[in-house]
Amino acid sequence: MIPLLDLKRQYMDIGSEIKEAVLSLLESGNYVLGPAVERFEEEVAKYCSCNYAISCASGTDALLLSLMALGISSQDEVITTPYSFFSTASVIWRLSAKPVFCDIDPVTYNINPSLIEAKITKKTKAILPVHLYGQTADMDEIMEIARKHNLFVIEDAAQALGAEYKGRNAGTLSDIGCFSFFPTKNLGGYGDGGMIVTNNKELADKMKMLRVHGSSPKYYHKVVGINSRLDAIQAVALSQKLKYLDGWNEARRRNAGLYNELLASADIILPKEAQNCKHIYNQYTIRVKDRDNLRQNLKKEGIATEIYYPLPLHLQDCFRELGYKEGDLPESETAAKETLSIPIYPELTEEEIREVAGAIGNSKPLKYL
Ligand SMILES: Cc1ncc(COP(=O)(O)O)c(C=O)c1O
Repeated sequence: MIPLLDLKRQYMDIGSEIKEAVLSLLESGNYVLGPAVERFEEEVAKYCSCNYAISCASGTDALLLSLMALGISSQDEVITTPYSFFSTASVIWRLSAKPVFCDIDPVTYNINPSLIEAKITKKTKAILPVHLYGQTADMDEIMEIARKHNLFVIEDAAQALGAEYKGRNAGTLSDIGCFSFFPTKNLGGYGDGGMIVTNNKELADKMKMLRVHGSSPKYYHKVVGINSRLDAIQAVALSQKLKYLDGWNEARRRNAGLYNELLASADIILPKEAQNCKHIYNQYTIRVKDRDNLRQNLKKEGIATEIYYPLPLHLQDCFRELGYKEGDLPESETAAKETLSIPIYPELTEEEIREVAGAIGNSKPLKYL
């Protein structure tokens, strides 16, 4: 049995230091925000080479707080990708703004910058690209469009802490970057958690205020915010784990390299690391015509896989009043039918990678073209 992700293996490696850090935190008496959280924020800011890091309760909240800080509201439109986790669009919707979906590049699965300008209207306030699977979107082109039209850019870097674009950190390539510490992320906590990074002091101060009900000072509310704070237990655990992140990302890249070799002659499309990008493979996602059949065959062999994501956001029931229909964003729709993520976590052994690759080869996927 090879699971898609085995968090227990990582815990076996580093559990004793995590336990020690958590136990000493428990003795400190500071459990929400406080010094341990501030320390972790400083560490993330340093890791990303940026000025401010503001923690919060989840990656979803990181996105929500960013949009709130930019003043996104009911009259506004935000251009984003339909091929992402639900949060990317739900946060726009929750502020009563309109998500405007722009199709993806079929090679990287990230928003296709050449399609963005056609989506810009007088109401457009921001662009929200996602660095899907751990690879950055084409940020130079996106930033150029944003500057030309005076738009904000927020990176959904939930899956991409440690990824790089032209040697710069994912999350720091625009106005605001958002990370998630959900356990399945490359830096995952033991519960929920999120972080926002920015070089803009005014935005940083605003987001710090918004995450504590909009209060500053305490019990005096300048605006209505939300309750979204990082638990100190998560902060100390994540601090310990941050030291290992680059090594884990390298291990994922090494595993991806071995898959690339072993699957080179299979009739499937392999993930492609775009020029100027350092992919950190939160997912290793292959593409295959008879995806569901391959998935079944792998399951029979005891190999777990997942589909990220089976239904693009523009076709979700909850967004039906936006008026999208099948065929509107064809690259996203085909990707949703053909992609399959296979195990890639750092602790995977070479033997297991060979077993997965062998099972894919034996399943004889339909020729792609
Ligand atoms: C692309 C993307 N955006 C946003 C999120 C939301 O993060 P969280 O689960 O921490 O709220 C996730 C992860 O779940 C994600 O993968």
